[in-house]
Amino acid sequence: MRRLAPVLRQDGVDTDLISLIKTILAACKEISFRVGQGELAGVLGSTLDENIQGETQKKLDVLANELLKDMILETGVVKAISSEEEDYTVAGNPEGRYLVTFDPLDGSSNTDINSLIGTIFSILPARADVDAADAAQFLQPGTAQIAAGYVLYGPSTMLALTTGKGTKLYTLDKTYGGFLLTQEEVAVPGVTAEFAINMSNQRHWQPGMQAYVADLLEGKPGPRGKNFNMRWIAAMVGDVHRVLCRGGIFMYPSDTKDPNKPNKLRLMYEANPMSFLVEQAGGLSSTGYQRIMEIEPTDIHQRVAVILGSKHEVETCLKYHQS
Ligand code: F6P
Ligand code: MN
Repeated sequence: MRRLAPVLRQDGVDTDLISLIKTILAACKEISFRVGQGELAGVLGSTLDENIQGETQKKLDVLANELLKDMILETGVVKAISSEEEDYTVAGNPEGRYLVTFDPLDGSSNTDINSLIGTIFSILPARADVDAADAAQFLQPGTAQIAAGYVLYGPSTMLALTTGKGTKLYTLDKTYGGFLLTQEEVAVPGVTAEFAINMSNQRHWQPGMQAYVADLLEGKPGPRGKNFNMRWIAAMVGDVHRVLCRGGIFMYPSDTKDPNKPNKLRLMYEANPMSFLVEQAGGLSSTGYQRIMEIEPTDIHQRVAVILGSKHEVETCLKYHQS
């Protein structure tokens, strides 16, 4: 089994970046341990606070956020961080070459039911012309990402990582304490018969998505001529992991349920890193109208519609949006 750092060195990743990734993973190992302790660690349940997104914060959200923030800033190679759980960006070393964005605990409502959760992160180049304390640092499209990944806290703790040379999967060896390479080249099958969407929002979707999903549900006798299966984990990290492992299409489209919040997933903390991982594994990722990684961000907390996964299925879905 091959270890993380030698694999990254072989891919030509520079030493500062390798140590930054290793630091993020050290924080994730600690989170993995606390998650595994469950009720015993006294970290389940909610705090009395809400995050900037107006969502209740779980104790684990706060713990994971603090761990990642402190450890990443201590590396000295990071100019600023932006977290889903922080209202504002946090400045680090003005000379730092990297920016890190993260969703400390994706799918955190699953903590209460001992189900899948994870940490999602993205690394961007720091901009020399912008002050470390200025959030404008982060307003870069997903195509600028240097690395992205997630750590999934499941029956085993797994890392999906890309530095732009394909997507690799690692598994945490809890006896040795490090991540070992378990899949060298992730390849998302182009064709699939599995979709993931929160069907309870169906009546609020736009016509293109309504028509696409209606045709999937028609199955073999319908226009698609085959039966589709549906899965929904309610943690993007779990649903995207399934897509990387065996293909599928994952969608969180725009809806009209709350006119002030047409989209749910965040561009910087969720959509961009997941798009990078999926594209590097041969899949596609779009809002329905635009490649997600080409969006020019206007706000660090902005949200987008997400359609990602198996190439041919995403292309089919996009045709419904165009017509
Ligand atoms: O972070 C937002 C998130 O928890 C995603 O991980 C997940 O895909 C989605 O929201 C679940 O949404 P819903 O509550 O509508 O099922
Ligand atoms: Mn999330």
